[in-house]
Amino acid sequence: MTKTLRAGITAIGAYAPAKVLTNDDLSKFMDTNDEWISTRTGIRRRHVAADDEFTSNLAVSAVLDMQRRYGEEVLEGVDMVIVATNTPDAYFPSTAAMVQNYFSLKAGAFDLLAACPGWVYALSVAQAYVESGICKKVLAIGSEALTKLIDWNDRSTAVLFGDGAGATLVEAVEEPFGIKSMILGADGEGGKYLYARATGKSLLDGTEITDHVYMNGREVFKFAVRVMNTSTIEAIEQAGLNSADISLFVPHQANLRIISAARERLGLPEEKVVVTVDEYGNNSTASIPLALTHAVDGGRIKSGDNLLLVSFGAGLTWAASVLTWGGTK
Ligand SMILES: CC(C)(COP(=O)(O)OP(=O)(O)OC[C@H]1O[C@@H](n2cnc3c(N)ncnc32)[C@H](O)[C@@H]1OP(=O)(O)O)[C@@H](O)C(=O)NCCC(=O)NCCS
Repeated sequence: MTKTLRAGITAIGAYAPAKVLTNDDLSKFMDTNDEWISTRTGIRRRHVAADDEFTSNLAVSAVLDMQRRYGEEVLEGVDMVIVATNTPDAYFPSTAAMVQNYFSLKAGAFDLLAACPGWVYALSVAQAYVESGICKKVLAIGSEALTKLIDWNDRSTAVLFGDGAGATLVEAVEEPFGIKSMILGADGEGGKYLYARATGKSLLDGTEITDHVYMNGREVFKFAVRVMNTSTIEAIEQAGLNSADISLFVPHQANLRIISAARERLGLPEEKVVVTVDEYGNNSTASIPLALTHAVDGGRIKSGDNLLLVSFGAGLTWAASVLTWGGTK
């Protein structure tokens, strides 16, 4: 009997820039305060890329962290590099090709844009490559230098975002490990609620804009709470599990209130959710792989654990997945 090939995450690594801005730091140059930010979002600090630090540098640092954890040979045989990002160094070439070049990999490389759920989308592509036999070892990275797109005069968005990167290696694992479900969705009708474009007219009201992040926070909040609920339930069902089978919930780190609403709806206790939004803010595609790395470092994930991942963002897009951790290096 031929065995079904199942893809899983076999190695991880993460990086956050050294520079940190606290809520109090922000209140020194914009009309905001720690109380407003922390009660509405749960964010206390965010890591900010240096002027000469770009998305490719953050991605490379996350992969170097992976090598530090598993040895340099961890990259041997990598045949595809995918970087999920909203903030590539350039329109082209891809950030993934820069990573490929840095590590001299004999691999294909491309970037993937699906807003904050980009890394989960990259995981789904890596899964498809591995399970179809097209690739054997895929480096799926989420890397973001979002603060370079922030309008520091717009307090309603500037306080929310941060920079960082998380790297994962995806390859075939033995049953019972690996990715058990994958839910992907988009609703372009809501594109006007969260976007950044180089120049031109606002998608919201037609006014002239520059290359900054624009957001209707209330609409995004409502969408996020709705889609976090529906997609997590679908992902658990598709995996053939119940929420009681979930060992750890690793959601996109945008807002503690959104995370708590989803956790409560799933009936999960607080100790089963990973929260890093207080330290990093929303670093988009980096948030889940970075949170995963924290959970591993904190001894919160063991082999055989069922992890529930979910993300939402501009597009509007969303993604959720259940995977059984292990079968790892
Ligand atoms: C952005 C968000 C935190 C705002 O919270 P909220 O409770 O909806 O707050 P409101 O938008 O109603 O704003 C309330 C007031 O605070 C003010 N305000 C906005 N940003 C502020 C800040 N940084 N500091 C102080 N006051 C601020 C507003 O101007 C408004 O004042 P007004 O009532 O006098 O007009 C919330 O809507 C949210 O988290 N949305 C989802 C965003 C998200 O996750 N985006 C990323 C998706 S990947």
